[in-house]
Amino acid sequence: RLGRKKVKSNIVPEKSENGGWRKDGDKVDLAEQSLLNKLIRHSLVRNRNQVEVLQRDPTSPLYSVKTFEELRLKPDLLKGVYNMGFNRPSRIQENALPMMLAQPPQNLIAQSQSGTGKTAAFSLAMLSHVNPANKWTQCLCIAPTYELALQIGQVIEQMGKYCPDVKLAYGIRGNRMERGIKLQEQIVIGTPGTVLDWCTKYRLIEPKKITMFVLDEADVMIATQGHRDQSIRIHRQLTKDCQMLLFSATFEDSVWRFAEQVVPDPNIIRLKREEETLDTIKQFYVVCKEKEDKFTALCNLYGSLTIAQAMIFCHTRKMAAWLTANLTKEGHQVALLSGEMTVEQRASVIERYRNGKEKVLVTTNVCSRGIDVEQVSLVVNFDLPVDMDGNADNETYLHRIGRTGRFGRRGFAVNMVDSKHSMDIINQIEMHFNRRITKLDTSDLEEMESLMS
Ligand SMILES: Nc1ncnc2c1ncn2[C@@H]1O[C@H](COP(=O)(O)OP(=O)(O)O)[C@@H](O)[C@H]1O
Ligand SMILES: [Mg+2]
Repeated sequence: RLGRKKVKSNIVPEKSENGGWRKDGDKVDLAEQSLLNKLIRHSLVRNRNQVEVLQRDPTSPLYSVKTFEELRLKPDLLKGVYNMGFNRPSRIQENALPMMLAQPPQNLIAQSQSGTGKTAAFSLAMLSHVNPANKWTQCLCIAPTYELALQIGQVIEQMGKYCPDVKLAYGIRGNRMERGIKLQEQIVIGTPGTVLDWCTKYRLIEPKKITMFVLDEADVMIATQGHRDQSIRIHRQLTKDCQMLLFSATFEDSVWRFAEQVVPDPNIIRLKREEETLDTIKQFYVVCKEKEDKFTALCNLYGSLTIAQAMIFCHTRKMAAWLTANLTKEGHQVALLSGEMTVEQRASVIERYRNGKEKVLVTTNVCSRGIDVEQVSLVVNFDLPVDMDGNADNETYLHRIGRTGRFGRRGFAVNMVDSKHSMDIINQIEMHFNRRITKLDTSDLEEMESLMS
């Protein structure tokens, strides 16, 4: 058996995808971001990386499945899976599903970026695990927010569409229950506070009868005050034999420490996110004086190119609003993504942009993190990404630019330089990535056409 230390040393902590407070001082709400990604995603995120598996018992055979049939699911459940349009298991599901369904039960910690099929995987495991003849709660799943719990519940309901005897209850605020009367639903999905109450204060659930416990979005969970402790308190009520499953999009030390507490002797599955690359992207900079000048450059650029879609980054909400107003005045159809919008509003803006209703998306950095829009052909840094000390924020630069030129397509990135300081930043970025950023004169049409073809 692998010692804890050993296991940990093999797992290199990954930089947070979107972690908590940003360097620029704006708060990123992880739960909101996660929900937003759910709302705008309709299919799996592509990932060509290999799955890393660390088995609790390295001598036991490692199973992976290429089809759902191999899992020998109940026919009604298999029908539900196919009905969702799933043809074959996703990368992470290939390994995770056989592990979660194995007898005797095994604990699992799984990490992969959002959109790779984690929630669908454990939903399937829960539906397969329960005995519909037993009218008590057997699977307990907790998620960081009301909205995320509802999202998971919808997946379970859809997948379990042809399993009418399996019932689901939502342990979320506002769902009032009579004290002391045990629930008959085999699956309960909820938030830590309410679920804890249901187990202890209200006695709706018999914790000792829970045989599968799932923690979804563990990284978001521990970022929320109190959720971590409530989760641990729920965990303490359960028996040692209860199967524990934990899922997370990122895996920083804090997530790892939490996971170790609630998931003893785990198998570990990890799928690294596909690296963003600058290889297929041509990078330019344009020298400007002030924001009006940048605006003119942008219009020249846009007018002279046949651009499928562009994404423009500003530093502040105010700048984003100003730019949007001016582009609109010029007759462009522009979508604006800004911090004060609700998650639903943002989702609908992104949806419209994706469907090509608007060709230009103006956004602040905070708003855009973690969102995958694939068909962008031009990224413009109207303001360059800097950290709090005013240095180049290389990570953010890569993240912004990495949206273009994906999946073999070619992309362009244009940076607006309006001071000696911003020229320094461009130089820092060039050095960091060891890639040339070419000067572009947007008033010279011919030069532009030849450079950007
Ligand atoms: N095996 C699969 N085949 C096709 N689509 C899938 C499969 N598994 C999940 N999906 C879809 O991919 C998207 C992301 O899945 P989800 O389970 O929410 O990922 P995660 O929990 O890792 O964010 C959802 O739209 C889901 O319906
Ligand atoms: Mg999920």
